[in-house]
Amino acid sequence: MSTVVIVGAQWGDEGKGKIVDFCTQHADVVVRYAGGPNAGHTLVVGDDKLIVRLIPSGILRPNTRCVLGQGMVIDAEVLVKEIEELERRGLDPIKRLFVSDRAHLILPYHVAIDTLRETSQPAAVAIGTTKKGIGPAYEDKAARRGVRAGLLADLSRLEKAVEQAIFGWAPTLRAFDQRVPIAAEIVDALRPLADRLVPRLADTSLLLADAMRTGQSVLLEGAQGTLLDIDHGTYPYVTSSSAAAGGAVSGAGIGPRCIDTVLGITKAYTTRVGAGPFPTELADDTGKKLREAGAEFGSVTGRPRRTGWIDLPALRYAARVNGLDGLAVTKLDVLTGHEKIGVCVAYETKDGRTRDFPIDLIDRPGLATPIYETLDGWREPLGAVRSLSDLPAAARAYLAFVEREVGVQIYLLSVGARRSETVVIRNPFEL
Ligand code: GDP
Ligand code: IMO
Ligand code: MG
Repeated sequence: MSTVVIVGAQWGDEGKGKIVDFCTQHADVVVRYAGGPNAGHTLVVGDDKLIVRLIPSGILRPNTRCVLGQGMVIDAEVLVKEIEELERRGLDPIKRLFVSDRAHLILPYHVAIDTLRETSQPAAVAIGTTKKGIGPAYEDKAARRGVRAGLLADLSRLEKAVEQAIFGWAPTLRAFDQRVPIAAEIVDALRPLADRLVPRLADTSLLLADAMRTGQSVLLEGAQGTLLDIDHGTYPYVTSSSAAAGGAVSGAGIGPRCIDTVLGITKAYTTRVGAGPFPTELADDTGKKLREAGAEFGSVTGRPRRTGWIDLPALRYAARVNGLDGLAVTKLDVLTGHEKIGVCVAYETKDGRTRDFPIDLIDRPGLATPIYETLDGWREPLGAVRSLSDLPAAARAYLAFVEREVGVQIYLLSVGARRSETVVIRNPFEL
């Protein structure tokens, strides 16, 4: 038995869905521990593609229990739609799904405020959020006026909690010339959703403790990525949750010593969607080529993702703040066809050259300049690669360089979106 955290080591969209789906063959329980429907995790089985936003990426394996942990913010309407989509595809997710009664609900006013802020602020200060209500829902949690999922079982108490939250948001809504919503209307809309979800509410911390006590393996699935974490990310251009591995402890309700292995996922290059600093961004034809080859368009919002070379100081930083044991490198196939590949190995700052990620300087022009090494590329497509020895020498050299420079062993390599397009170097569940 093992408990493994899988965390995004960059700005999200590293391929967590694919890697979690692949690793779920070894897990009895898969837990989402943070974030909400801002996540878009893509699962590809055969020719079928499914994007999950709230439900853990383990849902496609028939015997795996899936938990929405207490660190999450849940939009009940999105969750029920997602359940129905899985049912349409012939799956029976509902009995395997457990929703923490302590997770917070995203309610319509959260989505409205998130959207109003994003659309009314000048582009220069907008975060470029997914407009799913994530920030305002976590604000309510921190302000101690959040509405927790457990209240779905008692709609009259839920209505009182919603009234209090609305009271808190009324000045903001009026400042935006918006009608202040009526709690009873919100509760009426929740009623049919509550009927479906209440039977799935559970003390999921207890469920996990029982699972671990009886020798089951647990996979804790991160959403977003380390550089979007509220504490460790490129603040304020971050999400509002603890996306990094530390969030797995509080967001799942387990002790830190329960965790055996932390696996960080990184693309073989870098992407970011939304605003904020991105030092290795390529706003040129090379960046366009990466975007096209990698189909880099947001899975939730469809926005084109910004693209650039891999940033090794940022990965070293992710290794440090998450305590990474291993790396999963995804989308190596996308680098095929580049004669030369840039790798950011250090930064130049006014104090000299540093191998650390100067996270507080990168949003200020000229204070931290990436220093690159250029490695040889390769021409061969990698989709058929099933072991490291199948790789062209230049691709092997690229991986060896990344591994040595980050100081973390590569456990998994992904060369395509499908399950079969994966090379296991070291199984994180069998260490
Ligand atoms: P997540 O949010 O971290 O789960 O990542 P997304 O699903 O948002 O984005 C990753 C995209 O890359 C999805 O479309 C995946 O199907 C795709 N993908 C994952 N791994 C690979 C890979 O190794 N190669 C290629 N070409 N695509 C991949
Ligand atoms: P997955 O789990 C990439 C980004 C948004 C925005 C910032 C804040 O698929 O990797 P939010 O709506 O959370 O308040 O937006 O965070 N963002 C993501 N970027 N992948 C994600 O999730 C993201 N979730 C949020 O683009 O810049
Ligand atoms: Mg995604």
